Amino acid sequence: MEPSPSHEYFGSVTSNEDIEFKHSKDSYLIDQRGKKYIDFTMGWCVGNIGWNNKEVVKAIKGFDGPTYVSPHLEYKPWEELSELLAEMTPGKLKKCFRATGGTEAVEIALQAAMAYTGRKKIIAIDDAYHGNSIATWALVSDSPFFNWKRIKPPLNEHALKTLENLLKDNDVAAFIMEPVVLNLDVLVPDQKFMKGMQELCKKHGTLIIMDEVATGFGRTGKMFASDHFNIEPDIMCLAKGITGGAAALGATIMTEQVAKALYHGQFPYSTYGWHPLSVEAALTNIRYLQRNWGELEENIFIMNEYFMQRLSLMDFRVRPKISSMGLAIHVGFEQPKYAREISQKAFENGLIISQGISMYPALNIDFETAKEGLDLLEKSF
Ligand SMILES: Cc1ncc(COP(=O)(O)O)c(C=O)c1O
Repeated sequence: MEPSPSHEYFGSVTSNEDIEFKHSKDSYLIDQRGKKYIDFTMGWCVGNIGWNNKEVVKAIKGFDGPTYVSPHLEYKPWEELSELLAEMTPGKLKKCFRATGGTEAVEIALQAAMAYTGRKKIIAIDDAYHGNSIATWALVSDSPFFNWKRIKPPLNEHALKTLENLLKDNDVAAFIMEPVVLNLDVLVPDQKFMKGMQELCKKHGTLIIMDEVATGFGRTGKMFASDHFNIEPDIMCLAKGITGGAAALGATIMTEQVAKALYHGQFPYSTYGWHPLSVEAALTNIRYLQRNWGELEENIFIMNEYFMQRLSLMDFRVRPKISSMGLAIHVGFEQPKYAREISQKAFENGLIISQGISMYPALNIDFETAKEGLDLLEKSF
């Protein structure tokens, strides 16, 4: 990847440099010339309730709490947010730890699993994604630092056998996965795999870490994707949709038993973890999601049917492999170049989709916007 030529100081690479985004609203991003783009990615599962949700914006603008509270001091909304997360997440998840985003939330999960089990090995899914740090890279690809083991998709009975083999020596701290693997083209595991995985982990004293950084907060049609499989994780990682994009925040929630292990050694510390303004955004965003969940759940179901029907009728140059769960949708082609061409053309036409092609529209997207976006997609190949 080449550095962006128009940036003298900014190190990261961006695309379409002559287009600057100035505003956002619901399912739209608006550039400096006032052109509207339908956003079918919502920041990769960040803006689940649409951009600039009125309630969240009002809460942030009206916030008159402290600028900052040090992690060792008392701030009541930390308990409030923890209680809310404990109530809504599956199983016996109870104790929350502060993070600034998804990578940090996963790091805390790995630390907790190692501290609790006294083991150092971790198993993950080959080529998946759990964040941007040396440890989270090592989970999914070869690393000089950790020799962690990986399971190859598809996640079926064969993968379960591999898992059984890897767990048999009772020396694995944790198995980590996204319950629906969005980072592997919306890969939906077999129910049998998930059931067997839970039983095997229990039998061998291996903790289950569900990374719901992207799937959490409604994306797949349930509040958490673990709920599709009746998984009761020992640890769950959250971020992205937790604030709907209004502020940075991540969380690691675990059972009380596992959390205890963290009080005896290195304790997770995060200077900006659960900044007061981010907590205000998260509380308002989650309460909005909960209050409107009935309607959102129905919309996710209806929109999934609509997207799948439209996509299956589209006249792509080659037949795509389409996979979806709720409003996590992937349209895959043998030739990645073809997908990139489509996504570039779609962008020019005013539609944002990932290069893959993955689509994560807002959970409250209305029919007209969905239709307009899909019409633009159809115009892009
Ligand atoms: C499943 C999953 N875990 C972790 C992360 C890392 O989150 P963040 O970018 O907030 O550090 C991501 C980011 O895309 C993700 O999709």
